[in-house]
Amino acid sequence: MDAAACLAAEKHAGVSCVTASMDDIQFEEAARVGQIISIRTKVNRAFKTSMEVGIKVTVQDVLTNAEKIVSVAYATYVAKPVDAGKVELKPVELLSAEDHLEHTLAIERRRIRLGYVQVFQKLMQESNKEDTCEEKDAVSTEHTHVQSTELVLPPHANHHGNTFGGQIMAWMQTVASISASRLCRSHPILKSVNMFKFWGPSFVGDRLVFNAIVNNTFHNSVEVGVRVEAYNCEEWIKDQPRHINSAFLTFNAVNDKGELLTFPRVKPTTQDGVRRYHGAIARRRIRLTRKCMLSAKGDKPSDAWETSNQAYLSYSNIAALTHLASKPGWDITKTLDNVRIWTHEEGAVLSFKVEMQVKVPSHVAFSLLSDFSLRQHWDRHFL
Ligand code: COA
Ligand code: ADP
Repeated sequence: MDAAACLAAEKHAGVSCVTASMDDIQFEEAARVGQIISIRTKVNRAFKTSMEVGIKVTVQDVLTNAEKIVSVAYATYVAKPVDAGKVELKPVELLSAEDHLEHTLAIERRRIRLGYVQVFQKLMQESNKEDTCEEKDAVSTEHTHVQSTELVLPPHANHHGNTFGGQIMAWMQTVASISASRLCRSHPILKSVNMFKFWGPSFVGDRLVFNAIVNNTFHNSVEVGVRVEAYNCEEWIKDQPRHINSAFLTFNAVNDKGELLTFPRVKPTTQDGVRRYHGAIARRRIRLTRKCMLSAKGDKPSDAWETSNQAYLSYSNIAALTHLASKPGWDITKTLDNVRIWTHEEGAVLSFKVEMQVKVPSHVAFSLLSDFSLRQHWDRHFL
């Protein structure tokens, strides 16, 4: 996924690009030996030096031809030519309605991405107060600690010697699944990877040290955290690592009959362990809210209205309205002064769009629209 997305980014930028971050990845379907995987990638929007690339992975069964979606993910790449300053990217050329739609939604996803740390910290403060981690029959996580060291070789890196982000993710998955298997005594199945950022680059010749441990369990799933640090020869001797990234992976496990296994509750034994235990709860809340809102199948409206979910709610509204507005088949039903009313019928659903043309400077329009209490100043039909 990373390699295909990086190629799309470089095709647009015309210079080398590096993976800056990866949004949540949820795996909806397992891809099995003998099936065909297709990975489609597209630059949705170029910002200043970074761009969002959409990645769609599908799996096709050779016998039945049935195609299923494995995952839809979004990654950010930064244009980084060797030995040169920052590159300003040209805008993406939008050819189809789908391009326009993704372009609009990309700015909303960026807002969520860049605000993630604040949302997480806020939830951490709350969960520290609410949740206790003293349950009977809970087991220690000490035995789930896994460490591995990898040497970055030329096949793991691009032609400038920068380690591929996807290679680091693959190494992370290996240590994390060993860690999870120590708790469930079975083969764990990767379900999701939490949003993460690559803090700094690593290069051919670096030693990468991966430390993984189980942070928390949630009935049928377990969260494993992995921290990656890089050393070159000098840093290795002085024990001065560079933090490359930290990721949080969620696994399920099944028995011989394919039934989900229940994970034992865990009890952290160190201060860091307690903090990470609460961190896992906060990440799970964000991930589930995000998933439920982005797929518009919300069955927990009370969660959605929490202030910490404002960014997701706003994204979800904009996404829903943008999808609706881009549908074909809108008809003008009424024109009244400068107001036009459009309708759209689809099955049992009737939607309205009200369009009003005004001529005011953009900063005035912005300030009027950004404060709902000012609506009467510009909408004389508003009661
Ligand atoms: N998610 C998405 N984009 C992010 C981001 C995040 N978490 N953090 C920063 N960015 C974007 C910024 O918004 C900015 O984009 P813009 O110019 O379009 O507005 C761009 O990245 C540069 O941000 P800036 O703050 O100037 O730089 P930085 O010091 O945070 O560096 C990287 C960002 C990605 C270049 C830097 O962290 C890096 O080199 N990371 C390692 C990349 C790498 O080697 N990856 C492969 C795996 S080792
Ligand atoms: P945080 O501690 O805030 O979660 P870190 O970047 O330090 O952030 O670590 C990310 C995750 O990596 C931790 O949540 C933990 O699961 C795992 N981890 C970090 N350090 C170690 C370690 N020394 N041994 C085992 N696992 C570790």
